[in-house]
Amino acid sequence: MYTALFQEILHFGIFIAGVDAIVFTLQNRCDKTICPGIQASGGQPQLMEGGLELKPLQSRNLTAPKGWSGRFWGRSGCKFNVYGEGTCATGDCGIGLYCNGAGGEPPASEAEITLDSPVDFYDVSLLDGFNMPISVVPYDDSGVCPTVGCDTDLNQHCPTNLIVRGDRGEIVVCKSACTAFQTPEYCCTGQFQNPNRCKPTKYSQYFKRACPSTFTYAFDDPSSTVTCRDSDYLIMFC
Ligand SMILES: *[C@@H]1O[C@H](CO)[C@@H](O)[C@H](O)[C@H]1NC(C)=O
Repeated sequence: MYTALFQEILHFGIFIAGVDAIVFTLQNRCDKTICPGIQASGGQPQLMEGGLELKPLQSRNLTAPKGWSGRFWGRSGCKFNVYGEGTCATGDCGIGLYCNGAGGEPPASEAEITLDSPVDFYDVSLLDGFNMPISVVPYDDSGVCPTVGCDTDLNQHCPTNLIVRGDRGEIVVCKSACTAFQTPEYCCTGQFQNPNRCKPTKYSQYFKRACPSTFTYAFDDPSSTVTCRDSDYLIMFC
């Protein structure tokens, strides 16, 4: 039996080793300023009030408590005033810089993370389409935790039917087939809500070829969700 004092030491030891909290580094490698959005899952604390701005090559470390889960996405073409009021051209959450629980409007590429369940699960999802490259890179010395995501700009080769253009005719985002056509077949809903019925399509295969470690349709290969334990994570945009 440990004494009460030793239990205190154990607890303190674990605390200073950092296992009670983990660090997410958000890094902007894009050549433009972006505003990452962060949406915690039900009941979890909203990190950074759900949003921040990152200039090119800027990064920020955020601390998340043990057991946290939620998603990260990038917003581009944002115009916010000093109060954080305004909108973004892609990934907008509808309430300004600080999303405070609101999600991003599709199309947006998203990183999803659930910590300590009992290991950490993470993936990058293109189910809601693609707006900018995003990857999850574990800070992992052992080299066993995979990096997932997409560092290719899928907008450049987006299938014609999925393209959304900006005012100057430039391609701003690439919809997923589900957001573009909203049919049970592409969204894996209704009678297609079944892995045997809902199969890859030419659209999901386009995403998969360019970014093999991402989720490209609802019943995509479960190996697109990977695990790690006791790690901090770099969330990289572009
Ligand atoms: C951010 O967190 C990472 C991972 O824990 C660490 O390696 C890095 O030194 C931190 N950067 C700063 C500026 O604190």
